[in-house]
Amino acid sequence: MKVALITGASAGLGKEFLKALPSAFPDIEEYWLISRNRDKLLEAARLVPKQCRVFPLDLTKDESYDKLSRYLGEFQPEISLLVNNSGCGFLGDVGEGELSRQVQMVDLNLKGLTAVTHLAIPYMPAGGHIVNISSIASFCPNARMTVYSASKSYVTAFTLGIGEELKKRGITATAVCPGPMDTDFIVSGGIKGHSKTFDLLPYCDPAKVAKGALEAAKRGQSVYTPTLFYKFYRVVAKLAPAKLMMKASKT
Ligand SMILES: NC(=O)c1ccc[n+]([C@@H]2O[C@H](COP(=O)([O-])OP(=O)(O)OC[C@H]3O[C@@H](n4cnc5c(N)ncnc54)[C@H](OP(=O)(O)O)[C@@H]3O)[C@@H](O)[C@H]2O)c1
Repeated sequence: MKVALITGASAGLGKEFLKALPSAFPDIEEYWLISRNRDKLLEAARLVPKQCRVFPLDLTKDESYDKLSRYLGEFQPEISLLVNNSGCGFLGDVGEGELSRQVQMVDLNLKGLTAVTHLAIPYMPAGGHIVNISSIASFCPNARMTVYSASKSYVTAFTLGIGEELKKRGITATAVCPGPMDTDFIVSGGIKGHSKTFDLLPYCDPAKVAKGALEAAKRGQSVYTPTLFYKFYRVVAKLAPAKLMMKASKT
């Protein structure tokens, strides 16, 4: 049974992946949807004209990795596509506000993504694809979202690393680096209305991001940055002095 496993499928960009997937990967027969909220997952499953299994798991928790490992062992899926989309980002300096928020970004964006990938890879056939949702925040450190931008630098570097490791198995890995999108993320992260940079930057359309990311995965592209504006920003971030970039990209 060819399966797509999508984390963070209950909202925002994750839901757009669900809408874009059937036409991009028509041979996928079953969808495995993961996030914390079962009801939202069941609602999201209605978007997909194929069989869905929902797994309400908190990917910051070690016990969730044990559960996922057991489900994989039980159902023995052939994971043609893995989309690691669950993620969170909170505005605020390190050393201020609640510790739990800083740690949550590390636990979900780094630990959760790493664990799900590690568990899924043994079930992936040749021709499989991994899509990891990173961010333009991975291009250089963003003060006031330092942990978030560092976590997304990890996601991009991790994706490039596994892409190299998995070449011998015919599996591709793509890091997707969108700019801001108008989803729950910017509300729950305390960003909306509290960041001049977010107010100024052009927003990406999540539907276009999802569609473009799946096309990039099929091409085996290692990094996909939507829109010309953010492609240009990526090049500038590579060439400009780090100090200058950090000043310009302070959240
Ligand atoms: N929006 C932006 O401006 C922006 C820009 C660049 C990159 N991104 C990245 O895009 C990805 C999707 O974000 P989004 O904008 O669609 O945000 P969103 O609407 O807040 O969606 C986040 C998803 O992650 C799930 N999630 C949150 N905590 C979780 C946990 N502990 N365990 C499992 N799942 C969890 C949420 O579901 P539950 O609440 O049901 O768990 C939800 O499905 C993230 O990786 C984010 O970093 C976002």
